[in-house]
Amino acid sequence: MNLSTFSFPTPTVFGVGALAVLPSRCKPLGLRRPLVVTDSGLLGTGAFHSLAQTLGPEAQGKDWFLFSGVHPNPIEQDVRDAAQAFVQNQCDGVIAFGGGSALDVGKAARLLVKRSGFDFAKFYDEPDWSGLAPCIAIPTTAGTGSEVGRSSVITLDATHRKAVLFHPELLAKLVILDPQLTVGLPPKLTAATGADALTHCIESFTCPQFHPMCDGIALEGIRLIVEALPRAHARGDDLEARGHMLVAAAMGAVAFQKDLGVVHSLAHPLSSLCGMHHGLANALCLVAGMKFCAARKPGIYRRVGTACGLEVQKFPTSEADQTTIAFLADFLARLGLNTRLREHGVKPEQIEALVAQAVDDPCHKTNVVPVTAEDFWKLYLEVL
Ligand SMILES: NC(=O)c1ccc[n+]([C@@H]2O[C@H](COP(=O)([O-])OP(=O)(O)OC[C@H]3O[C@@H](n4cnc5c(N)ncnc54)[C@H](O)[C@@H]3O)[C@@H](O)[C@H]2O)c1
Ligand SMILES: [Fe+2]
Repeated sequence: MNLSTFSFPTPTVFGVGALAVLPSRCKPLGLRRPLVVTDSGLLGTGAFHSLAQTLGPEAQGKDWFLFSGVHPNPIEQDVRDAAQAFVQNQCDGVIAFGGGSALDVGKAARLLVKRSGFDFAKFYDEPDWSGLAPCIAIPTTAGTGSEVGRSSVITLDATHRKAVLFHPELLAKLVILDPQLTVGLPPKLTAATGADALTHCIESFTCPQFHPMCDGIALEGIRLIVEALPRAHARGDDLEARGHMLVAAAMGAVAFQKDLGVVHSLAHPLSSLCGMHHGLANALCLVAGMKFCAARKPGIYRRVGTACGLEVQKFPTSEADQTTIAFLADFLARLGLNTRLREHGVKPEQIEALVAQAVDDPCHKTNVVPVTAEDFWKLYLEVL
């Protein structure tokens, strides 16, 4: 096995077969009775089979425990149920295994283990989240980067909106990036989750806060995705492409410490109100969001274009943006991500509610240019 180890910011073991290190890493991190948190869709996959084999199928219910009740776009009840499974089985740590939904619930369940019955609506009033049970995060999609993130995105009961629960204590203690675990991800989900990672890199790079380290990571993430996503989409067993997508997704999440932008504010309500997959929602809004930003801040996508491999350095400002946006529109179309919202069941009469949530979403507050309610209306209509 040829594994790499790095800490940026989380200790990460990367490589084909990296899952094999899991048993030896649990005890030193304090996981003697871990709870595996995942979703039911994963139970029949090769990825979960590998995990069970690695932990020892005969040891399930004795040395490790399973909670598979996470739903896509998870809600508070998922977190409560996972925390209850943790307590009932006297677990001491979490192995969060799956896409962003399972990782977010696994990370957040530890909050309710520490403060039973806690009301997430008061999350930011709580001064002390220290001492959470340890978590090892193992992604099986290459998109959200939640494995290296400090947040869990959970739809709250009180508001029916996606809330970002952000706290450094939510960070996993160890991340395992094993490309083998993503080979069974179907092409549609490969494309949609990859588009989420791409959107993270583009929005964090163009977010105006000063953070040159994140900017560099975002640009390299874009380069990797442009090269690897079509390959992973065309051939799921291309392990090099799968590996590049896994690191690029983690890089996107490191980069968005800087924050995100208008596209994520358009996407979040599409998930909470229309049940759309998060990556798909971003993909369908990305081009419109980029055109909106470029029209108000010409030149912002020149370096994104260069990261895509385009020769736009010497182009006039608006031409550099247009060339980059046209390239990415075509890139998404080749991945089948050029459908319209109405093809996914979104109705014109839902736009009012979508706009109301998008305006309140925090992501666009750090967009490269301000976004008004009227702008959100126009953008939703453009992609409807
Ligand atoms: N915490 C963060 O920083 C952050 C960032 C972006 C998005 N998110 C959140 O993450 C969630 C989306 O996560 P996602 O895009 O990874 O999708 P997901 O976790 O909802 O998974 C989508 C589907 O893929 C299936 N799946 C996962 N891995 C598979 C595999 N290897 N083989 C076959 N099927 C597999 C799952 O069973 C599920 O049905 C959303 O709730 C979004 O808001 C969180
Ligand atoms: Fe995202």
